[in-house]
Amino acid sequence: ATTRLWGGRFSSGPSPQMVALSLSVHFDMRLAPYDIEGSRAHARVLHSARLLDDDELAKMLGALDSLEKDVADGTFQAKVEDEDVHTALERGLIERLGTLGGKLRAGRSRNDQVATDLRLYLRDNVRKIAAAVVDLEEALLGKANEYADVVAPGMTHLQHAQPILFAHQLLAHVHAFARDVDRLRDWDKRAAVSPLGAGALAGSSLKLDPGAVAKDLGFDRPADNSIDAVSDRDYVAEFLFAAAMIGVHLSRIGEEVVLWTTTEFGWVRLHDSWATGSSIMPQKKNPDIGELARGKTGRFVGNLVSLLTTLKALPLAYDRDLQEDKECTFDSVEQLLMLLPAVSGMIATMTVDAARVSAGAGAGHALATDVAEWLVRQGVPFREAHEVSGAAVQFCDERGCELYDLTAEDLASVDARLTAEVMDVLTVEGALASRSTHGGTAPVRVAEQAERIKASLAMQ
Ligand code: ARG
Repeated sequence: ATTRLWGGRFSSGPSPQMVALSLSVHFDMRLAPYDIEGSRAHARVLHSARLLDDDELAKMLGALDSLEKDVADGTFQAKVEDEDVHTALERGLIERLGTLGGKLRAGRSRNDQVATDLRLYLRDNVRKIAAAVVDLEEALLGKANEYADVVAPGMTHLQHAQPILFAHQLLAHVHAFARDVDRLRDWDKRAAVSPLGAGALAGSSLKLDPGAVAKDLGFDRPADNSIDAVSDRDYVAEFLFAAAMIGVHLSRIGEEVVLWTTTEFGWVRLHDSWATGSSIMPQKKNPDIGELARGKTGRFVGNLVSLLTTLKALPLAYDRDLQEDKECTFDSVEQLLMLLPAVSGMIATMTVDAARVSAGAGAGHALATDVAEWLVRQGVPFREAHEVSGAAVQFCDERGCELYDLTAEDLASVDARLTAEVMDVLTVEGALASRSTHGGTAPVRVAEQAERIKASLAMQ
């Protein structure tokens, strides 16, 4: 006996190759809990349309509960003959209810069903992802507070640029992740539209109530166009973009941790439980989490491109191409839910060698801008100030010293405008404190920033 949901007009079953190509149950069983949730709502709407009587509804809901439990504990398993999750679960329902199980499909197509399942799955998992991103923000904020006083060389082009607080850089990553959480929450508002009731593409002749079903499933409203309801995958593409953006952000902090843990930097030491060793080199302690964050971002971006390419030029309404929306989505969800806690754990447990980080904060002539801006405050046009400070850097380069090593005589020999007072700004602390514009690296500003972040995380 076939469990296929179609066949009346076919004189033969599908070829094995057709079946193999068509099969999705080995991955779309992940949707089973959401499919069952949708089935409960559909059963209730069939009941209010008087297509199921009270007794039938009670039996249907009972069977759906038992099926849900059996799916969860593995008692019910999909078979290869089940083309997809919807087929498998209808089989499970009929095994429990006999012919009554065949009533649930009235007014519902796999087209509106699968679009609903995937929305429910994503809305649920997007909440989990957002929570995991918030955890990472908290880990970064915790480290920023722990090392609040540590000065560091701020870099552009990975070259020393201007001194910063190390915490300022850690908090920069927090802002990126906060935007990601924002994006996910914003996504949810647009994703909160229920496709059920659209049927195959045109709606239903049965007295269904898509608004009631939408409410039942926690959606804000039913779709206004049944064709759009079954063919729209914008919500998947948007999610995959948000996921790719999170991946890109993870890859950036991951890359920094990789750099910071090198012998050359020696800024950060990872906790043993968040690092790996080498099978041949006994001394090795590798920052694999940072590397996997970098590496997995390739697939997050790939999943987005894969779906957009599938959607391009698809005619309305449903096309089987749309079955390709799932594996990339499951992959981005599952990989993110694995990666985010690992990166959080790595950050939360890493130790920072404050002396190593701050040692070079003013080196590489990182105070050259301070000299130029001091001249500006004396009335020198910036264009000239830049040249004068550059000449002082050249003077230092020739002698193999730093700007803060120069004596008053050295400075005067570079340019008469560099009077002894300039030496007041030639300290890392002075440079930091002076960058006190909103969002700047001055310790008072960074402390305020950390407070704002703490307050906004407390509201999550
Ligand atoms: N497995 C299908 C999918 O994931 C379900 C919808 C199938 N509909 C159909 N008419 N073949 O898209």
